[in-house]
Amino acid sequence: MPSPSLDELRAKIDASVRSLTDESARVRDLQGLEDLRNAFLSRKRGAVTLLFEELKAVAAEDKREAGQLVNSLKVLVQDKLAALEASLAAPTAVRSETDLTLPGRRRPWGAAHPLRLFQAEIESIFVEMGFGIEDGPEIETDFYNFEALNFPPNHPARDAWDTLYVRKDADDPKRDLLLRTHTSPVQIRVMEKRKPPIRIIIPGKVYRKDQPDPTHMPMFMQVEGLVVGEGITFAHLKGTLEHFLKRLFGEKLKVRFRPSFFPFTEPSAEVDIECLQCGQKDPACRVCGGTGWKEILGSGMVHPQVFKNVKIDPEKYSGWAFGMGVERIAMFAYGIPDVRYFYENDLRFNRQFQLK
Ligand code: PHE
Repeated sequence: MPSPSLDELRAKIDASVRSLTDESARVRDLQGLEDLRNAFLSRKRGAVTLLFEELKAVAAEDKREAGQLVNSLKVLVQDKLAALEASLAAPTAVRSETDLTLPGRRRPWGAAHPLRLFQAEIESIFVEMGFGIEDGPEIETDFYNFEALNFPPNHPARDAWDTLYVRKDADDPKRDLLLRTHTSPVQIRVMEKRKPPIRIIIPGKVYRKDQPDPTHMPMFMQVEGLVVGEGITFAHLKGTLEHFLKRLFGEKLKVRFRPSFFPFTEPSAEVDIECLQCGQKDPACRVCGGTGWKEILGSGMVHPQVFKNVKIDPEKYSGWAFGMGVERIAMFAYGIPDVRYFYENDLRFNRQFQLK
């Protein structure tokens, strides 16, 4: 056998390195790895083994260098096999279609209902003036909803509050349970517990036997107010309510007080504000009906009989109270034509009032 030259040996080693690169790229599993190992290092037919065989025939003066060449190929093969083995043992890399650099999908946030936001706006104006906030039960007795508020039994004034009864006792009306028709019963509950001075508002839900239509709901919200102390007059009522309405609707707002009747206040007044829809100019205005005014709340000086019912001396103390419908004011403030929108929970409506 003619002794192979160093150049021939180099060419064979280069070819082996190329095939090592090609074939190792195709290895997918341990079987492939084992096949590759055999192809190069098998004791009988491995490419590296065969090259070591050829070394025997290399001329004596080239042996050293030839030996180093074949040995470096062997090291290269071993390193490659070790690297492949390690990568096959490693946990499968995250290979998915998900693009982790994309922004997340936004979930809608919960938010306060428009009526709650409006209620909070009303509350904050009164809290600024030093009023506290109270509440009471929505299921009431006849006593708190009517009798203590100076509605005598069978008095026709009761008919103005179409009452939903939870329990009706024909023999003993004192046992009746009803859904409160206004927040005024909480006036009684507070005055029973507490001595004047009293300066509170009472926001809450109330119920009346009404069919839903653009201006009625069987459940709606009121904010009640009550001030009791020594030397309290109608001027306090007027000044406070005017200030409140101007804070809500603007400093230039026209406000008027009109005589009215409630069994629990005397004198009583209804408060109107100018129609902001037509600026008091449109005789066919759908909001004010051409009157130029919009009734916005009921009020009056606490009736002496009411004070007696809660054992407050009407000779020493006086007070005033008011009650207003939250939906009614919100509808007017925002030009909402139908009270039912507040209760449909249509997000396209509700979202208009978030984060103003
Ligand atoms: N409770 C009355 C109503 O529901 C409003 C009101 C409250 C009037 C307090 C005067 C004083 O209509």
